[in-house]
Amino acid sequence: MDLFFSGGLRGLLITWLLLDVTKAATSYDGRTVKESYDYIVIGGGTSGLVVANRLSEDPKKSLLVLEHGYINDSPNTMIPRAVAKFPNLGIDFWNVTSAPLEKLQNLRTTVQMADVVGANFQDHPQMMASWNLTSGLAVPNPGTLASNATYNASAWAEYEGNRTGPYTVAWSNTAAFLPLRNFTSAAAYAAIMDAVADPGSSKRRQEDEELIALAGYRAQRAILRRHLGSPDAAAIEYPLTAGGLGTSGLNKPLSRGTITLAPSSTNSNINNTLGNISPADRAVVLAAVRWIRDLYATSPLLARYGPVELAPGLAAQTDEAMWTALVSAGLVRPSNAHPSGTCAMMPTALGGCVGADLRVHGIRRLAVVDASVMPLIPGTHSQTTVYAVAEKAADLIKARAR
Ligand SMILES: *[C@@H]1O[C@H](CO)[C@@H](O)[C@H](O)[C@H]1NC(C)=O
Ligand SMILES: *[C@@H]1O[C@H](CO)[C@@H](O)[C@H](O)[C@H]1NC(C)=O
Ligand SMILES: *[C@@H]1O[C@H](CO)[C@@H](O)[C@H](O)[C@H]1NC(C)=O
Ligand SMILES: *[C@@H]1O[C@H](CO)[C@@H](O)[C@H](O)[C@H]1NC(C)=O
Ligand SMILES: *[C@@H]1O[C@H](CO)[C@@H](O)[C@H](O)[C@H]1NC(C)=O
Ligand SMILES: *[C@@H]1O[C@H](CO)[C@@H](O)[C@H](O)[C@H]1NC(C)=O
Ligand SMILES: *[C@@H]1O[C@H](CO)[C@@H](O)[C@H](O)[C@H]1NC(C)=O
Repeated sequence: MDLFFSGGLRGLLITWLLLDVTKAATSYDGRTVKESYDYIVIGGGTSGLVVANRLSEDPKKSLLVLEHGYINDSPNTMIPRAVAKFPNLGIDFWNVTSAPLEKLQNLRTTVQMADVVGANFQDHPQMMASWNLTSGLAVPNPGTLASNATYNASAWAEYEGNRTGPYTVAWSNTAAFLPLRNFTSAAAYAAIMDAVADPGSSKRRQEDEELIALAGYRAQRAILRRHLGSPDAAAIEYPLTAGGLGTSGLNKPLSRGTITLAPSSTNSNINNTLGNISPADRAVVLAAVRWIRDLYATSPLLARYGPVELAPGLAAQTDEAMWTALVSAGLVRPSNAHPSGTCAMMPTALGGCVGADLRVHGIRRLAVVDASVMPLIPGTHSQTTVYAVAEKAADLIKARAR
């Protein structure tokens, strides 16, 4: 019997399994379950079901997928256009929020399904500046669905009938992935590169004090510094929307969190310290705001839409004022629904959790297959990478059975 953990609130599942065992085997005999299957996959999400699908290709193998049964078929998860509403509905999976994030003015963030207990927690921090485009917009534009009932009705009919049209566009249909040098002043670029330089083996940066897996973080920081200095690696993803967003997500984040359970309270039982945005990430966010602000102010193409800055707002000119304005309005978020890294594929000495074979260090028959094994969050949306990890994992696991 091999056991695979995959996606889901693994920490909660482990707690549940342990609790269930202590309740004595009234409902089932754990040993029977264990001996009845060649494989047990815990978590039927993106990666769990890929692994299960591939392992079940061998008709001689038996397999159990354990999933706690939440099926979200709400229109807000099924219709691409509705994704814009999705993060704020309070219906995400368990409806669990983080403990207050002290450094983001006690902001509480939604805990995503794949936030799993551990250190080295990473996501793509997000900054959401915005502009009001007051003139010259073509019709239809992204606001037309909300303002024009006739247009909405035909767009809806098109989606229902053909699964095409405006309802298939999620946030935006344009995006730029920009290397650091492309959106920073020479001074900001130098300051950011300095903030990610190794201070020397005998010294630590202030933010390092809060890190559990410090050795691993230092190794990662050296890699990230190379990426940030490269013209071929994007530091931010910047979607361009006709709705006036000036959002950017950080693709090479230095911020790290730790997720622990605080079982005393039910709906805020996740202590997620990712909100301790690192100084380097803060500097990248501020450089991005300045660059986008400059673009709206000087680009002749954008000028014709009469852009008026809404957030952070032109009153905010210094770094400090811009940061405060964004954070007070809840417009700096530590997560972009790409939680990764808490069971990293790194050596034990670096604070790692699984090896290249995805097996948990020191345990022969337990593997982890999900975004938590990624030591560094990839500079992309994580879903495709999770599919790739799961396909690779299935090959490894099948090869082990031979
Ligand atoms: C989510 O939790 C909050 C806080 O406990 C509660 O007020 C709200 O009704 C819950 N939402 C859903 C959809 O369950
Ligand atoms: C955006 O601009 C329009 C047109 O000038 C105005 O009616 C609207 O109130 C503005 N919205 C915000 C949020 O300022
Ligand atoms: C657009 O049409 C759909 C389907 O009738 C409806 O559910 C939705 O509320 C409409 N949106 C607006 C903004 O009127
Ligand atoms: C509303 O949408 C309809 C159908 O697309 C279009 O013919 C009409 O001009 C729009 N009205 C406005 C005020 O933009
Ligand atoms: C669906 O697509 C077909 C073929 O392009 C088109 O004739 C039809 O009008 C579309 N239906 C809707 C509801 O938009
Ligand atoms: C980014 O910078 C490089 C090097 O200066 C330049 O060749 C490239 O055109 C820039 N790209 C954008 C989108 O500004
Ligand atoms: C969250 O973690 C921090 C840092 O380890 C700790 O100080 C705090 O008490 C924890 N909060 C909860 C609710 O567990």
